[in-house]
Amino acid sequence: MTARHKVMGINAGMHNGNGEIALKAALKVLEERGAEVKLINLFDYDILPCTGCEGCTMQMGAIAQDPSKEYKGCVLKDRDDVDQLVAELHTCNGVLIAAPTYDLAPSSLYLRFAQRFLAYELSFLIKIGVVKENPHTVAGLISVGGSMHDWQTLALETLQASMFTMSLQVVDRYMIQRSARPGSVLTFPEQVERCKQMGEHIWEAMETPVEERGWLGDPDDGVCPNCHSSLVYPGDPHWDGIEFPYECAVCGCGGSLGISERTGKPILQIAENGHIRDRFIDEARAQHLNEIIRTRIEFFQKQDSIKDEYKAYREMQFPTVEITR
Ligand SMILES: Cc1cc2nc3c(=O)[nH]c(=O)nc-3n(C[C@H](O)[C@H](O)[C@H](O)COP(=O)(O)O)c2cc1C
Repeated sequence: MTARHKVMGINAGMHNGNGEIALKAALKVLEERGAEVKLINLFDYDILPCTGCEGCTMQMGAIAQDPSKEYKGCVLKDRDDVDQLVAELHTCNGVLIAAPTYDLAPSSLYLRFAQRFLAYELSFLIKIGVVKENPHTVAGLISVGGSMHDWQTLALETLQASMFTMSLQVVDRYMIQRSARPGSVLTFPEQVERCKQMGEHIWEAMETPVEERGWLGDPDDGVCPNCHSSLVYPGDPHWDGIEFPYECAVCGCGGSLGISERTGKPILQIAENGHIRDRFIDEARAQHLNEIIRTRIEFFQKQDSIKDEYKAYREMQFPTVEITR
């Protein structure tokens, strides 16, 4: 019998490490509920860094204008394992991601994987007809650190920031703390229990109709009531003059900073028009596409004026570091 739900655990941490334990605890719950589960460790795969060529978005733009053109995908497609991993991911309706925190943020291995997703941006691929149906995949995010929140300040937020391009809807997030050595998380049974609860949340979300799905994590988590990130900063004018006194660094919602009556803690009070830059909303993300297009057009208009200077910089050489092997 085929399972109704398919869930993939993605670990960017050590084999037999804390992230692996957290994922196994959550996946076991999902398996018992009847989901088909898989667990991968990114260390086991060949993952090249994005070259930055933007060949993918250039192709997408060209196909949007001429649908007879064929999408060839990422330039690295046949050179490493990412294409096969993404193909598998796109067959799932639930994903659990665990990434160790290195220098306050998710490890470079996780980011290397996540930053390859521009070539697979689901909303773009659906728009140009390359992907027919959105699998509406939900995600649970786990950061794993040796310290507490003060040394993991960018961990969950950076994981969340990678969700827009990966086209995953986050329904829960959790920070494992004080778990520096392999297995340490088991000395905090309440943290393992919380990961099992994340498994339950993923199941609940997958069982809920897409349009009714929402946040299942701690309702008081974070400062932004929209995405629950803790990173809210004083806003600056955007490319088109839009400006808010405060903005969420993750989802982009704007408003003012206040104190929650319920918790007594700081909260972003989202303005009436505060969702116009909400990166979770397709329309708001489309505004960003307009920004990219305008920035490109402005550059192409000025390109001639910098031709000689650009050539001079290309020809400018400095000694580099030679590696002897
Ligand atoms: C290079 C490096 C940097 C680290 N930086 C942090 C950090 O900034 N904050 C933190 O809480 N833990 C930090 N740690 C500890 C790891 O997050 C911790 O060992 C974690 O359990 C690893 O997860 P894993 O067992 O799933 O591999 C660092 C570890 C390494 C190796």
